Amino acid sequence: MLQVAIFASGTGTNAKRIIESSRSEIKPYHISLLVCNNPVAGIMSVAIDHKIPVLIVNRETFFDTESILPQLREFGIDYIILAGYIWKLPSTLIDAYRGRIVNIHPALLPKFGGKGMFGIHVHLAVKMAAESKTGITIHYVDEHYDAGDIIFQSSIAIESSDTPEDIQRRVQKLEHEHYPEIVDRLLREYALEHPKAPQN
Ligand code: GRF
Repeated sequence: MLQVAIFASGTGTNAKRIIESSRSEIKPYHISLLVCNNPVAGIMSVAIDHKIPVLIVNRETFFDTESILPQLREFGIDYIILAGYIWKLPSTLIDAYRGRIVNIHPALLPKFGGKGMFGIHVHLAVKMAAESKTGITIHYVDEHYDAGDIIFQSSIAIESSDTPEDIQRRVQKLEHEHYPEIVDRLLREYALEHPKAPQN
């Protein structure tokens, strides 16, 4: 069974939906770990409700790959899903899981990505640029902020009367519609291509 870790730092509305979808029927993967840098984040209660072990990290433990990599291996983690994780991943972690780390960004990359582009800042920038559309991007993670290969995008039109908050709400809806489904597809495909011996 493929073992999956979710990395999240915030409310975890996306992580919650991914976890619920993963538990809704028998899957060839199991979400077996939450990595979180914020012990009071909303996502924590979701992990507790679903009995998912939580690895609380701080800057020292997270950026020390001598510490984080062995811990992920201890949980047998094969694949990583980022869902609102605040820190850039260390390059040794990216190397170890290359092609097996997926993120979602609340804009149509390559536009409105990079350092500082998170939360409402993204939607403010979209509004300021008077874009006619925005959306979501699901992509693999590499060493650069929001620059890995794009897996999926979906867009919505922006009305001139839309506030950044309106845009944020509609983009979040789009995330919830698509992220669990795309993650499910990627994990199923990966599990099919990399079958593991059943564990006792
Ligand atoms: C989402 O907007 C996602 O695109 C970004 O972080 C946010 C996480 O939101 N990477 P939530 O915690 O899942 O509600």
